[in-house]
Amino acid sequence: MTNPVNKISIRHLDKHYGAGARRTQALHNINLDIAAGEFITLVGASGCGKSTLLRTLGGLEEYSIGSLACNGRPVDGPGPDRAMVFQSYSLYPWLTVMENIRFCRKLHFHRDNTTSADVEQASGRSDALLALMGLSHVKHAYPAELSGGMQQRVAIARALMVRPDVLLMDEPFGALDAQTREVMHDLMRYLYLLEKTTVVFVTHDVEEAIYLGQRVVVMAPRPGRIDSVFDVPFGPDRHQDLKLAPEFTELKRRILDRIRETSGMKTDLEQLKKLTEHQHGN
Ligand SMILES: Nc1ncnc2c1ncn2[C@@H]1O[C@H](COP(=O)(O)OP(=O)(O)OP(=O)(O)O)[C@@H](O)[C@H]1O
Ligand SMILES: [Mg+2]
Repeated sequence: MTNPVNKISIRHLDKHYGAGARRTQALHNINLDIAAGEFITLVGASGCGKSTLLRTLGGLEEYSIGSLACNGRPVDGPGPDRAMVFQSYSLYPWLTVMENIRFCRKLHFHRDNTTSADVEQASGRSDALLALMGLSHVKHAYPAELSGGMQQRVAIARALMVRPDVLLMDEPFGALDAQTREVMHDLMRYLYLLEKTTVVFVTHDVEEAIYLGQRVVVMAPRPGRIDSVFDVPFGPDRHQDLKLAPEFTELKRRILDRIRETSGMKTDLEQLKKLTEHQHGN
């Protein structure tokens, strides 16, 4: 039974790629409920299926076994209720910032019976989002003329344009420098509180996962599965100094321990040690 307050409900989800000798079990028995308005972060060793899970939520991947529902309806493809932001900014290089932001909305309108009031409202929203993102002064610029942080802000504004119920983000700040990332973290928190969107956010950075999320889901590889879920004990009002608090660093340590424990790196290091000893022995 799916709980009506859950925005997303994942039950016994299995997903594999390829067949025969090339078969990879990317996700195994994933069970997760995400409440409306929750900010969930996904962390875990490379290859543990974070992107696969996110893409499956976005309806970009099919799944083999189990069920996946958004707003109580089975996910069977992409929809305007779920918007995605990727690490690469994926903006249209031939469109200006403003045109990029309005583009998806345009596609959406072409499918519906659009009134001029709708178009006007959309223009108002794109202006508001541009102002919110600090992009008003570059609205007629092309993506190539912007810094990485600015391009990613355009990509986020574009995703928010359709007022998605769920925002799915795959390492959106992975390519940015540390300072720009901090700015983006605070912007992300602000947007989240303002828009009240449900967010599923994939990252390699445990600090980022704690600072942004209400729950941190640790995934483990081979097969991709959920290892553990950590509640983040901090309220909505967060500041950068929080990262220095003892409760923050303790939670970070516990999460990092789980990632190290499940990544298989321990075994690799042991094998490396054995190999070195063997070489020295010869
Ligand atoms: N299109 C694909 N075809 C075949 N195998 C795939 C495909 N995409 C992912 N995989 C495999 O599925 C598993 C999970 O990959 P996925 O990209 O979801 O991991 P990830 O946790 O996002 O990793 P990273 O942290 O490196 O981004 C890996 O073993 C990967 O090789
Ligand atoms: Mg990935």
